[in-house]
Amino acid sequence: MHIAVIGSGYVGLVAAACFAELGHTVVCVDNDEQKLEALQRGETPIHEVYLPELLQRHRGLRLSYSGSVAEAVRASSVIFIAVGTPPLESGDADLSYVEAVAREIAFSLNGYKVIVEKSTVPVYTSEWLKRVIRLTCPENEEFDVVSNPEFLREGTAVTDFLYPDRIVIGADSERSREVLEQVYLPLLSGSYYEQAHRIPEPGELADRVKVIYTSAKSAELIKHASNAFLAMKISFINAVANVCEAVEADVEEVRRGMGSDARIGSAFLRAGIGYGGSCFPKDVAAFRSVAEQARCSFRLLDEVIAINEEQRSRFIAKVREALWTLKGKRVGVLGLAFKGGTDDVRESPAIAIVKSLLAQQCAIQAYDPAAMKGARNILGDSIAYAGDAYEAAQGADALLILTDWEEFAALDLERLKQVLRYPIIIDGRNLYSLETMQSSGLMYVSMGRPVIQHPSSATRKLKSGELAK
Ligand code: UGA
Repeated sequence: MHIAVIGSGYVGLVAAACFAELGHTVVCVDNDEQKLEALQRGETPIHEVYLPELLQRHRGLRLSYSGSVAEAVRASSVIFIAVGTPPLESGDADLSYVEAVAREIAFSLNGYKVIVEKSTVPVYTSEWLKRVIRLTCPENEEFDVVSNPEFLREGTAVTDFLYPDRIVIGADSERSREVLEQVYLPLLSGSYYEQAHRIPEPGELADRVKVIYTSAKSAELIKHASNAFLAMKISFINAVANVCEAVEADVEEVRRGMGSDARIGSAFLRAGIGYGGSCFPKDVAAFRSVAEQARCSFRLLDEVIAINEEQRSRFIAKVREALWTLKGKRVGVLGLAFKGGTDDVRESPAIAIVKSLLAQQCAIQAYDPAAMKGARNILGDSIAYAGDAYEAAQGADALLILTDWEEFAALDLERLKQVLRYPIIIDGRNLYSLETMQSSGLMYVSMGRPVIQHPSSATRKLKSGELAK
């Protein structure tokens, strides 16, 4: 099939590369000239496992790039809209880019097309799209609008796309539903999974990819409700972690106990400094707004947001408690991305914490395996950028772990102890077991678990106020 994907951000670019991988001829459209040139040169603008391989494999063959929506629409029978829907001040999603693209599509229709919402959009967007396109396009042009939300996570986007739990097709006509089935046929029939050169499966292969057919409106709600629910799980466990701290229990044990109930599940029950990224904060706020506009009270979502925001201040309080005063302290920071496996720093809790420490006149030296460039765009020269985790720890009064990169869970603790000025680790992601830290000789503060006091110096220095120097 001939497919156009409009917008080459995380979702658009990954979708375009994966559709080419499934055998379709794809044109990926963007209005950012520089990005297009980089893609045409064979560069990958984002850090995403397997994406460079796919772009390389299909570039110039089944995958091309263009700055023209009109050309792409004319050459395609299915058009995916994957442009940004950033938050407005009010919390609502800004749909102006979606609307602008819809008008451009409408001008260029030449025969029946299926226009697919891939961006996360509020319920009723498909109705608006239909209306805008109908009012703009020449009379008698045939088209359908379908909602086909994307559930990929950054960091594992390619495998999430090619090995999905489910594919949701929110189509209001039989004809458009059949077109979408053709788009995903290699996944639905399983033929992709028999190919020798397929991207390797991330775990055990499910028998069949589940397809869920719904109305367009239900599909729009599935996306918002799914993200809001996952965010709620995170805020729930963070609130539980706070109770654990108050009664000296261990949230990791509680998580194990809760998560092994199949009805609850252990995924998205990791306590920490709260959720971030370009999706959860924006989508929870947008969903709350959707509910409000539908005159439905959904105060649970207010609480999800409030707990998430408080988590950052609670973390800062832990740093203050470990270091007594903050002004003038040198703090090592591991992780700037909003989670491990990505270079994305949008709405990163790590960046928010760094900003707060800077405001309290700490000197920060930070390291992230992939997000240094993105962080520099925000933080500039206000912090020092280290070449690795040990350089970030060098001479620091404490080391903070703010992103759950795998490599931060396997550090040489003896070496860290040697390079740190004071042997204190404050872990916002619970990457280490209490047993490991008990024998490390480091003071270890984490989320929802008892503090491991350093047997000798740090505690004594702390008590005597020496750390305040
Ligand atoms: C999220 C959803 O997981 C995807 O299904 C969805 O497609 C995507 O948003 C989207 O709407 O585009 P993503 O933002 O890439 O994906 O990241 P997640 O892995 O969901 O993590 C979000 C945040 O929650 C991160 O800051 C992460 O560190 C935090 N988190 C996650 C926790 O604090 N605890 C957990 O147990 C899990």
